[in-house]
Amino acid sequence: MEATIVSEKSKHYSVLLKEIISIISPQYGGTFIDCTFGQGGYTKEILKFPNTKVIGIDRDIESKKIADRIKRSFEDRFFFKNIRFSQLKNLKLKNENIKGVIFDLGYSLNQIRNNKKGLSFNSRGQLNMKLGLNDFSASEVINKLSASDLQKIFRYFGEEKEAKKIANNIVNERVKYEINTQDLVKIIDSVKRKKNSKIHSSTKVFQAIRIFVNQEISELIYGLVNASKILKKDGILAVVTFHSLEDKIVKYFFRSLSENKSISRYQPKIMQSEPLFFMSKRKPIIPSKQELSENISSRSAKLRFVIKKKNIYDFTTDISEKFKSLLEVENISNKL
Ligand SMILES: C[S@@+](CC[C@H](N)C(=O)[O-])C[C@H]1O[C@@H](n2cnc3c(N)ncnc32)[C@H](O)[C@@H]1O
Repeated sequence: MEATIVSEKSKHYSVLLKEIISIISPQYGGTFIDCTFGQGGYTKEILKFPNTKVIGIDRDIESKKIADRIKRSFEDRFFFKNIRFSQLKNLKLKNENIKGVIFDLGYSLNQIRNNKKGLSFNSRGQLNMKLGLNDFSASEVINKLSASDLQKIFRYFGEEKEAKKIANNIVNERVKYEINTQDLVKIIDSVKRKKNSKIHSSTKVFQAIRIFVNQEISELIYGLVNASKILKKDGILAVVTFHSLEDKIVKYFFRSLSENKSISRYQPKIMQSEPLFFMSKRKPIIPSKQELSENISSRSAKLRFVIKKKNIYDFTTDISEKFKSLLEVENISNKL
């Protein structure tokens, strides 16, 4: 996951920017919600068009510095909120005509590079991984949870085959000292040393802990549901994902609430009335060859979007039910 948003040239690079702009069409004006403001790449591009307004959201307070700079130039057209996107419905939107809600999941280069955040296995020092507005850190996860809970986290969120062995070794080691980032890398490496793998031995476990610490599964599920509620008719909901778990959730949500003329018997059957969305493309949009040549880190990005067909949201989706097992793993956090 972390490799997906880091430009090799170490400049900030907004993934699939041209494609996002072409899908949400800000040239016609309207209000847009940028749920993952980050460095403001999408926001700045939208604000270039007159008659647009952007509400930027980010859970990382560091983003506020960039937001403050944009605010100076776009006093009446740009607003920033330091909240999590699962809390979208707390925005006081009055009668705002929301034309588009966009999500660009993952992390920005600045976040990955920030040693204090400790998102990367190259970080030094205490385990952390908090993006902002979190309840607990990676250090608490690794140094407090039982081996069987750690195993579940590594398996479900990282698809780590050696989950059990790694979890047991963590529990054995932490009796002697408090495990920090580099200790964790060493523990994982000692289990996986002989395995022939193209990816770094710590990639999967670190992905799993980041997802757990930031409760990314429930964030995405409730973010999507709330975004669908606040969008107006003809509004666009667009999401860029970076790993298979995220994409699975977005794909299911979009497909299960969309008009689908060729419903197969394997399609989820949860629609109660007129479908909520129109989905013009069933396949995701991926970065062009040119984007890949400029930013190889975008290689796992997938963009999916839907158009809302009516103003009201009268659906009870079974999305929480569908991803119940993942939500249960996230709930292990209640033990901390
Ligand atoms: C890949 S960056 C977005 C980059 C942005 N599109 C740009 O062009 O600058 C993802 C951002 O989403 C934020 N984020 C991740 N999960 C979030 C959540 N649940 N609520 C709010 N912001 C979140 C991260 O803090 C990060 O700044």
